[in-house]
Amino acid sequence: MKGIIFNLLEEAVSKEFGDATWDKLLDEANLSGAYTSLGNYADGEVVALVGAASKALNLPPRDILRWFGQRALPMLAVRYPDFFVGHAGTRSFLLTLNSIIHPEVHKLYPGASTPVFDFGVSDDGGMIIGYSSPRKMCTLAEGFVLGAAEHFHEQAEITQPQCMHDGASRCVLHVRFH
Ligand code: HEM
Repeated sequence: MKGIIFNLLEEAVSKEFGDATWDKLLDEANLSGAYTSLGNYADGEVVALVGAASKALNLPPRDILRWFGQRALPMLAVRYPDFFVGHAGTRSFLLTLNSIIHPEVHKLYPGASTPVFDFGVSDDGGMIIGYSSPRKMCTLAEGFVLGAAEHFHEQAEITQPQCMHDGASRCVLHVRFH
Protein backbone atom coordinates (compact mmCIF):
# COMPACT_ATOMS: atom_id res chain seq x y z
CA MET A 1 0.00 0.00 0.00
CA LYS A 2 1.36 3.39 -1.03
CA GLY A 3 2.29 5.94 1.64
CA ILE A 4 -0.23 8.44 0.24
CA ILE A 5 -3.00 6.24 1.66
CA PHE A 6 -1.39 6.42 5.13
CA ASN A 7 -0.95 10.19 4.71
CA LEU A 8 -4.68 10.52 3.94
CA LEU A 9 -5.61 8.30 6.87
CA GLU A 10 -3.46 10.40 9.21
CA GLU A 11 -5.09 13.58 7.90
CA ALA A 12 -8.60 12.16 8.29
CA VAL A 13 -7.99 10.87 11.83
CA SER A 14 -6.16 14.01 13.00
CA LYS A 15 -8.82 16.31 11.57
CA GLU A 16 -11.69 14.52 13.25
CA PHE A 17 -10.10 13.17 16.45
CA GLY A 18 -6.83 15.13 16.89
CA ASP A 19 -3.13 14.37 16.41
CA ALA A 20 -2.92 12.51 19.72
CA THR A 21 -5.44 9.95 18.47
CA TRP A 22 -3.29 9.22 15.41
CA ASP A 23 -0.27 8.71 17.68
CA LYS A 24 -2.33 6.41 19.86
CA LEU A 25 -3.40 4.31 16.87
CA LEU A 26 0.23 4.02 15.73
CA ASP A 27 1.22 2.91 19.24
CA GLU A 28 -1.56 0.35 19.40
CA ALA A 29 -0.63 -0.99 15.96
CA ASN A 30 3.06 -0.98 16.91
CA LEU A 31 4.01 1.20 13.94
CA SER A 32 6.41 4.17 13.64
CA GLY A 33 4.22 6.32 11.36
CA ALA A 34 7.01 7.55 9.08
CA TYR A 35 5.16 7.31 5.76
CA THR A 36 6.33 9.04 2.59
CA SER A 37 3.71 9.34 -0.17
CA LEU A 38 5.78 7.38 -2.71
CA GLY A 39 6.94 4.70 -0.28
CA ASN A 40 5.45 1.21 -0.37
CA TYR A 41 4.30 -0.35 2.90
CA ALA A 42 2.79 -3.70 3.80
CA ASP A 43 -1.00 -3.90 3.37
CA GLY A 44 -0.94 -5.36 6.88
CA GLU A 45 -0.01 -1.93 8.26
CA VAL A 46 -3.30 -0.43 7.05
CA VAL A 47 -5.12 -3.46 8.39
CA ALA A 48 -3.42 -2.96 11.80
CA LEU A 49 -4.29 0.76 11.92
CA VAL A 50 -7.88 0.10 10.89
CA GLY A 51 -8.01 -2.64 13.53
CA ALA A 52 -6.73 -0.24 16.22
CA ALA A 53 -9.32 2.37 15.18
CA SER A 54 -11.99 -0.31 15.18
CA LYS A 55 -11.15 -1.16 18.81
CA ALA A 56 -10.93 2.48 19.91
CA LEU A 57 -14.26 3.42 18.35
CA ASN A 58 -15.97 0.10 18.89
CA LEU A 59 -16.94 -0.14 15.22
CA PRO A 60 -16.30 -2.98 12.76
CA PRO A 61 -13.22 -2.52 10.52
CA ARG A 62 -15.45 -2.35 7.44
CA ASP A 63 -17.18 0.73 8.87
CA ILE A 64 -13.83 2.36 9.62
CA LEU A 65 -12.71 1.84 6.00
CA ARG A 66 -15.98 3.34 4.70
CA TRP A 67 -15.59 6.34 7.02
CA PHE A 68 -12.00 6.79 5.82
CA GLY A 69 -12.94 6.60 2.13
CA GLN A 70 -15.67 9.20 2.53
CA ARG A 71 -13.30 11.60 4.36
CA ALA A 72 -10.39 10.92 1.98
CA LEU A 73 -12.25 11.72 -1.24
CA PRO A 74 -12.38 15.52 -0.69
CA MET A 75 -8.66 15.40 0.10
CA LEU A 76 -8.08 13.62 -3.22
CA ALA A 77 -10.17 16.31 -4.93
CA VAL A 78 -7.78 18.95 -3.54
CA ARG A 79 -4.67 16.99 -4.54
CA TYR A 80 -5.91 15.86 -7.96
CA PRO A 81 -8.48 18.41 -9.22
CA ASP A 82 -7.99 17.39 -12.86
CA PHE A 83 -9.72 14.04 -12.29
CA PHE A 84 -12.87 15.84 -11.18
CA VAL A 85 -13.31 18.59 -13.77
CA GLY A 86 -15.58 18.14 -16.76
CA HIS A 87 -17.92 15.66 -15.06
CA ALA A 88 -21.61 16.45 -14.80
CA GLY A 89 -22.00 14.03 -11.91
CA THR A 90 -20.71 11.14 -9.84
CA ARG A 91 -21.53 8.45 -12.38
CA SER A 92 -19.38 9.83 -15.19
CA PHE A 93 -16.54 10.48 -12.70
CA LEU A 94 -16.63 6.89 -11.46
CA LEU A 95 -16.68 5.52 -15.00
CA THR A 96 -13.15 6.90 -15.48
CA LEU A 97 -11.68 4.88 -12.60
CA ASN A 98 -10.31 2.03 -14.74
CA SER A 99 -9.55 4.09 -17.83
CA ILE A 100 -8.04 7.29 -16.41
CA ILE A 101 -7.78 7.69 -12.64
CA HIS A 102 -6.06 4.54 -11.48
CA PRO A 103 -3.87 4.26 -14.63
CA GLU A 104 -2.63 7.79 -13.85
CA VAL A 105 -2.10 6.72 -10.24
CA HIS A 106 0.18 3.95 -11.53
CA LYS A 107 2.26 6.54 -13.40
CA LEU A 108 2.49 8.82 -10.36
CA TYR A 109 3.08 6.01 -7.87
CA PRO A 110 5.08 3.21 -9.47
CA GLY A 111 4.26 -0.11 -7.88
CA ALA A 112 0.75 0.96 -6.78
CA SER A 113 -1.84 -1.82 -6.42
CA THR A 114 -5.31 -0.64 -7.35
CA PRO A 115 -8.56 -2.57 -7.67
CA VAL A 116 -10.30 -3.53 -10.92
CA PHE A 117 -13.86 -2.33 -11.45
CA ASP A 118 -16.57 -3.31 -13.91
CA PHE A 119 -19.62 -1.20 -14.52
CA GLY A 120 -23.25 -1.77 -15.40
CA VAL A 121 -26.74 -0.32 -14.99
CA SER A 122 -29.39 -1.93 -12.76
CA ASP A 123 -33.08 -2.33 -13.63
CA ASP A 124 -33.91 0.69 -11.47
CA GLY A 125 -31.41 2.88 -13.35
CA GLY A 126 -28.83 2.68 -10.56
CA MET A 127 -25.17 2.02 -11.09
CA ILE A 128 -23.68 -1.45 -10.64
CA ILE A 129 -20.00 -1.41 -9.73
CA GLY A 130 -18.13 -4.70 -9.60
CA TYR A 131 -15.05 -4.54 -7.36
CA SER A 132 -12.20 -7.06 -7.52
CA SER A 133 -9.06 -6.86 -5.44
CA PRO A 134 -7.00 -9.27 -3.37
CA ARG A 135 -7.11 -6.58 -0.63
CA LYS A 136 -10.90 -6.91 -0.29
CA MET A 137 -11.37 -3.26 0.68
CA CYS A 138 -14.86 -2.98 -0.78
CA THR A 139 -16.12 -0.66 1.96
CA LEU A 140 -13.23 1.71 1.22
CA ALA A 141 -14.65 1.81 -2.31
CA GLU A 142 -18.11 2.48 -0.82
CA GLY A 143 -16.67 5.40 1.15
CA PHE A 144 -14.97 6.84 -1.94
CA VAL A 145 -18.27 6.60 -3.85
CA LEU A 146 -20.14 8.35 -0.99
CA GLY A 147 -17.48 11.07 -0.88
CA ALA A 148 -17.59 11.47 -4.67
CA ALA A 149 -21.38 11.85 -4.57
CA GLU A 150 -21.01 14.60 -1.95
CA HIS A 151 -18.43 16.30 -4.16
CA PHE A 152 -20.94 16.39 -7.04
CA HIS A 153 -23.79 17.45 -4.72
CA GLU A 154 -25.63 14.17 -5.14
CA GLN A 155 -26.80 11.66 -2.60
CA ALA A 156 -25.80 8.04 -3.02
CA GLU A 157 -27.29 5.02 -1.32
CA ILE A 158 -25.19 1.87 -1.59
CA THR A 159 -26.04 -1.78 -1.04
CA GLN A 160 -23.76 -4.75 -1.63
CA PRO A 161 -25.75 -7.70 -3.00
CA GLN A 162 -22.55 -9.77 -3.04
CA CYS A 163 -19.25 -9.45 -1.21
CA MET A 164 -15.89 -11.23 -1.29
CA HIS A 165 -16.02 -11.36 2.52
CA ASP A 166 -19.00 -13.72 2.12
CA GLY A 167 -17.12 -15.91 -0.36
CA ALA A 168 -18.16 -14.21 -3.63
CA SER A 169 -15.54 -13.97 -6.38
CA ARG A 170 -16.01 -10.20 -6.56
CA CYS A 171 -18.01 -7.57 -4.66
CA VAL A 172 -20.95 -5.84 -6.28
CA LEU A 173 -21.93 -2.32 -5.25
CA HIS A 174 -25.41 -1.20 -6.23
CA VAL A 175 -25.45 2.59 -6.14
CA ARG A 176 -28.68 4.58 -6.32
CA PHE A 177 -28.42 8.33 -6.79
CA HIS A 178 -31.05 10.69 -5.40
C1 HEM B 1 -8.91 11.26 -7.44
C2 HEM B 1 -9.30 10.06 -7.40
C3 HEM B 1 -8.48 8.87 -6.92
C4 HEM B 1 -7.13 8.75 -6.71
C5 HEM B 1 -6.05 9.78 -6.91
C6 HEM B 1 -6.91 7.39 -6.23
C7 HEM B 1 -5.69 6.88 -5.85
C8 HEM B 1 -5.47 5.67 -5.26
C9 HEM B 1 -4.22 5.23 -4.68
C10 HEM B 1 -2.92 6.04 -4.64
C11 HEM B 1 -4.41 4.00 -4.16
C12 HEM B 1 -3.39 3.13 -3.41
C13 HEM B 1 -2.63 2.21 -4.30
C14 HEM B 1 -1.57 1.47 -3.52
O1 HEM B 1 -1.49 1.66 -2.32
O2 HEM B 1 -0.79 0.67 -4.05
C15 HEM B 1 -5.80 3.65 -4.40
C16 HEM B 1 -6.38 2.49 -3.99
C17 HEM B 1 -7.72 2.29 -4.03
N1 HEM B 1 -8.65 3.01 -4.75
FE1 HEM B 1 -8.34 4.77 -5.68
N2 HEM B 1 -8.09 6.73 -6.18
C18 HEM B 1 -9.07 7.61 -6.58
C19 HEM B 1 -10.40 7.37 -6.65
C20 HEM B 1 -11.00 6.22 -6.24
C21 HEM B 1 -12.43 6.00 -6.22
C22 HEM B 1 -13.50 7.02 -6.62
C23 HEM B 1 -12.61 4.74 -5.77
C24 HEM B 1 -13.91 4.04 -5.52
C25 HEM B 1 -14.75 3.53 -6.23
C26 HEM B 1 -11.32 4.16 -5.49
C27 HEM B 1 -11.09 2.92 -4.97
C28 HEM B 1 -9.89 2.47 -4.46
C29 HEM B 1 -9.75 1.36 -3.55
C30 HEM B 1 -10.88 0.53 -2.97
C31 HEM B 1 -8.38 1.23 -3.27
C32 HEM B 1 -7.69 0.25 -2.28
C33 HEM B 1 -6.86 -0.80 -2.92
C34 HEM B 1 -7.67 -1.99 -3.37
O3 HEM B 1 -8.89 -2.06 -3.10
O4 HEM B 1 -7.11 -2.89 -4.03
N3 HEM B 1 -10.36 5.07 -5.83
N4 HEM B 1 -6.42 4.68 -5.09
